[in-house]
Amino acid sequence: MKTSSQPKIMAFQEEKALSTKAVSSQHSFQLIPVILLLMLASSDSVAKAEVVSQEAEALLKWKASLDNNTSSLSLLSSWIGNSNCNWDGISCNSFGSITQINLTFSGLRGTLHAFNFSAFPSLMSLNLSHNAIFGTIPSKIEFLKSLQILDLSENNINGSIPHEVGMLGNLTILSLKDNNLSGNLPTEVCMLNSLSVINVADNNLMGSIPEAIGNLISLKELYLMGNQLIGNIPPEVGKLKFLTHLGLVGNKLNGSLPSELNNFTFLKWLALSNNNFSGSIPHDICISGALELFTAHNNQLTGPMPRSLRNCTSLVRLRLERNQLTANIAQEFGIYPKLTYADLSYNRFYGEFSENWEQCQSLQSLRLSNNIISGGIPRLEGSVQLNVLDLSSNNLTGTIPKELGKLTSLFDLNLGNNKLSGSVPSELGMLTNLQHLNLAANDFSGLIPEKLGGCTELLNLNLSRNRFSESIPLQMGSINTLQVLDLSQNSLMSEIPPQLGNLMKLEALNLSHNELSGSIPSTFGNMLSLTVVDISYNHLEGPLPNNKAFHEASFLAFANNTGLCGNATGLNVCPSETKGEKKSSKSVIFIVLLVLSILFFAFGVTGVLCVVCCRQEGQLNEDQFSVWSYDGRLEYEDIIEATEEFDSKYCVGVGGNATVFKAELPTGRIVAVKKLHMLQDSGVANLKAFESEVRTLSEIRHRNILKLYGFCSHPQHPLLLYDYIEGGSLENILTDENHAVKFGWMERVNVVKDVANALSYMHHDCSPPIVHRDISSKNILLDLEYGAYVSDFGTAKLLNLETSNWTSYAGTLGYSAPGIHLLNSFI
Ligand SMILES: *[C@@H]1O[C@H](CO)[C@@H](O)[C@H](O)[C@H]1NC(C)=O
Ligand SMILES: *[C@@H]1O[C@H](CO)[C@@H](O)[C@H](O)[C@H]1NC(C)=O
Ligand SMILES: *[C@@H]1O[C@H](CO)[C@@H](O)[C@H](O)[C@H]1NC(C)=O
Ligand SMILES: *[C@@H]1O[C@H](CO)[C@@H](O)[C@H](O)[C@H]1NC(C)=O
Repeated sequence: MKTSSQPKIMAFQEEKALSTKAVSSQHSFQLIPVILLLMLASSDSVAKAEVVSQEAEALLKWKASLDNNTSSLSLLSSWIGNSNCNWDGISCNSFGSITQINLTFSGLRGTLHAFNFSAFPSLMSLNLSHNAIFGTIPSKIEFLKSLQILDLSENNINGSIPHEVGMLGNLTILSLKDNNLSGNLPTEVCMLNSLSVINVADNNLMGSIPEAIGNLISLKELYLMGNQLIGNIPPEVGKLKFLTHLGLVGNKLNGSLPSELNNFTFLKWLALSNNNFSGSIPHDICISGALELFTAHNNQLTGPMPRSLRNCTSLVRLRLERNQLTANIAQEFGIYPKLTYADLSYNRFYGEFSENWEQCQSLQSLRLSNNIISGGIPRLEGSVQLNVLDLSSNNLTGTIPKELGKLTSLFDLNLGNNKLSGSVPSELGMLTNLQHLNLAANDFSGLIPEKLGGCTELLNLNLSRNRFSESIPLQMGSINTLQVLDLSQNSLMSEIPPQLGNLMKLEALNLSHNELSGSIPSTFGNMLSLTVVDISYNHLEGPLPNNKAFHEASFLAFANNTGLCGNATGLNVCPSETKGEKKSSKSVIFIVLLVLSILFFAFGVTGVLCVVCCRQEGQLNEDQFSVWSYDGRLEYEDIIEATEEFDSKYCVGVGGNATVFKAELPTGRIVAVKKLHMLQDSGVANLKAFESEVRTLSEIRHRNILKLYGFCSHPQHPLLLYDYIEGGSLENILTDENHAVKFGWMERVNVVKDVANALSYMHHDCSPPIVHRDISSKNILLDLEYGAYVSDFGTAKLLNLETSNWTSYAGTLGYSAPGIHLLNSFI
């Protein structure tokens, strides 16, 4: 503050105040004292100048002692001449004496030894916090007779707190936080009965808390955190009737908490954690009705949770984790409308969640892990801000309430190691902010909900040690943020969906101890981040994917499978590996080039793509086919209902041999229903087409091939149910001018890559290889991110390598790409 003109201003203000008064009281003679005052002030100016120069001299001397290489110089550049009341950081009183020195965050580097304390008899506030002052606090500090506020926090001051601080009889705030002070807290400080705040946190203070602390009858805030204090809390602390804040965190205090802590009728903030306190919590700790923070975690507290704390409705933050407290959480507990953070983990809390817990509307984090809580999971419908819910390692039973799916702020949900059962509600898929989901070591059964694919921020998914059955949902492959996926020790069957290979950020994958069969999808070669893998104890066979994690894993990671082979310790080399690899990589390159050129052409003229094929060894798996055989009639009813008997309002497309409807199944899944036309005379042909399509698709799991969800073999109306792809066909997009403009070259190249992937998969990874025979822009569907899906295998035939199928070409009339014959004969 610049205050050289302060006397004048003050006088003026006084004058104004008085003159208002004078006018209002209509006694103008009252102005006389004012005039007198003004005269007095000016007659004092000679004495004032002397005082000023003494203070200025002291400041300049100290300035000169500071390290002049630091930024302090720039701030102190105003410190020249004699008019020190004008200098930065200096305030004076009406008599020109310095009352405040405020030089926080000024980069000051140096000591206080050149500071002439006796030169500042009027100094009331010295605030040098957030600098780089080092050395000790000089005992001469006692000369600051008027000092009320001393703030030297956040410096590098060392040595002990001088006893002479006890001479600063007017001190109300003493802040020495975050220095390197050592030694005891001097008892002399406890004589300063005007003190309302002591903050000596984050130093190296030793010894015990002096009993004399009880003399500080005005004390409101006492912060002793982050020191090396030992011993008990002296019962004398209880004399501090006005205490609102007590911080003892992170010392070496022990013993029980004195019952005198019950005396604090204004207490708002009590932080006792990370000590070695034992015994129980004083039973009237919340007697003030104002307690907002109570932390006592990492101690040895035992015994029951006092009632006053259980129904302490003022609580905002409560941390009691890692003690040995007991309480029935059903009793009184839970009515905490202001509570944002509660951690009661690692104690002995028992009982069931009561309805009370529904009233925690402000809750952001609730941790109660490692207790012995029983009963069901609370629905917590009121806790819409909840980020973290950790109820792991308890005795919780029942199912996960689907209402948890409404807590869309959740990013950490841990229900692991309980006795929860039933199926996992698909509503959890609505938790779009979820990053950690742990349901491990429970008794969950049924399918892994494919809706979990909606948790698009998930980093860590642990469903291990349950009874999940059937296949791994391919939707899991769409959680492309996933870093850790543990599905081990379940009863998962069928093949591993190739979509899992899309998890480009996956670092650890554990599929061990399941019933998985078939070969490991070659798409796993894409998972470049993968470092830990465990697929042991399954029925897997065939070659390992071309992935570093697989090549470098120990044999234990593959142990107990049916017939894995490949280039890894303990595995046999695959029969025709070297030969096959060369061939297929050649043909992949060829296919990519080919499809690129063809699609390039196709994009230009809204044309068509066509067909390639190649060889692969293996046998058709008849069992897989039956996996896809749904109970026709049951499904049919559902479809009838969902499409209101194939009402045209659900129709999304009409093709040569089918009409396509969009339908929402009772499960909430949206599918495309392809209703094949059953023409009177060509019934047999269509049925063949139908069977062909089902048969072909039932073999295929690939992220770029439209997924067949099911089929109905209704004699009149055979149906195929596919995943519904939002974006429509490539043809639609290319023919819609607005859309085509938005569909940039990067997206187009990606579509080419996707189609190439799909074709490569059909030709190399299916046995026998599958030839689409009618790839056109109509048959390539795009999702909203322009990811491509090859669809419509109605005309595909299984390629019998012995006979020549080249000539009977089933292309969409008029769209056959010119290179088709050349292409076929090349392969
Ligand atoms: C900084 O202080 C040193 C002595 O401590 C002196 O020699 C030097 O001239 C000073 N530099 C400036 C820029 O004042
Ligand atoms: C000292 O100054 C800092 C920074 O302006 C401020 O945060 C702090 O409250 C002051 N100290 C006291 C005791 O007023
Ligand atoms: C904490 O106190 C217990 C006794 O209550 C003692 O056995 C233990 O050694 C203490 N721990 C530390 C770190 O002081
Ligand atoms: C995979 O899970 C199983 C069973 O849950 C466990 O025993 C094994 O250690 C895990 N593997 C790795 C590599 O962590």
